[in-house]
Amino acid sequence: MELRLDGKVALITGGSRGIGKAIAAMYAEAGAKVMITSRKADVCEAAAAEIGHGCQFVAGNVGNAEDAERVIDATMEQFGAVDILVNNAATNPYAGPMIDVDIPRWQKTLDVNMTAPLVWTQLAWHKHMKENGGVVINISSVGGLSTNPVLGVYDVTKAALIHMTKQLAPELGPGVRVNAICPGLVKTDFAKMLWEGDKGDQVAKAYPLDRLGEVEDIAGAALYLAADSGSWMTGQIMVLDGGGLVRFDSMGG
Ligand SMILES: NC(=O)c1ccc[n+]([C@@H]2O[C@H](COP(=O)([O-])OP(=O)(O)OC[C@H]3O[C@@H](n4cnc5c(N)ncnc54)[C@H](OP(=O)(O)O)[C@@H]3O)[C@@H](O)[C@H]2O)c1
Repeated sequence: MELRLDGKVALITGGSRGIGKAIAAMYAEAGAKVMITSRKADVCEAAAAEIGHGCQFVAGNVGNAEDAERVIDATMEQFGAVDILVNNAATNPYAGPMIDVDIPRWQKTLDVNMTAPLVWTQLAWHKHMKENGGVVINISSVGGLSTNPVLGVYDVTKAALIHMTKQLAPELGPGVRVNAICPGLVKTDFAKMLWEGDKGDQVAKAYPLDRLGEVEDIAGAALYLAADSGSWMTGQIMVLDGGGLVRFDSMGG
């Protein structure tokens, strides 16, 4: 089975940088018509030009339902479909114990990381996928499968996204497949506080595969899930973390 997306239309939120941009580039290389979106139009424009292959962009905030509808409508107008939706954009405005989080930052994290993927999936479903089938890929995190002293709020939203993936898979089947990807630490702007200085080397040493993730590691999994290669897979979670979740734990017996 070839990892090709010829004739498919893919919409990638947070496609202007990092993991989203790598997914957009790999999809475009594989033959898809690609639409990217993020808040900053100038960054999107530069990314779309770099990706090439006719990649288009529309700026918007994923947490704003009107922006979501405008971007999905623009994708339908431009390309006539939304066959593949990658819910990739996320935020992490708070670091610290969850017990101390202020409610505005808690709510923002929920709005962008949890409610937005549902809203974007609802729109894609009603405007195209319900009648024509499709693929939804949610970018979660290994944080959604574990606990962390300072990322608890973010991790709650990523755990919810994993469960949302499992819930929507039977609801939207057989026409639409819904899967999630859980990356470990990937060296992007988003995760800078976790890898800057020598922190990244320490994390890499704790991974059995002895390195941090590259954005292409995640894009390759997203291509597998979107293409026919993933055609019997739904409601599942792909963990790409250099083996971090299965490393030997010094606290173990
Ligand atoms: N990097 C890691 O180690 C790691 C690990 C596990 C999971 N992840 C997940 O991977 C995904 C991508 O992260 P990344 O590391 O690639 O981050 P990144 O390099 O910082 O890129 C984030 C992208 O999302 C966009 N974005 C942020 N907030 C947005 C909003 N409210 N509305 C629309 N677009 C928004 C950004 O563009 P604008 O600023 O222009 O909006 C940018 O295009 C996220 O879901 C993240 O949780 C990352």
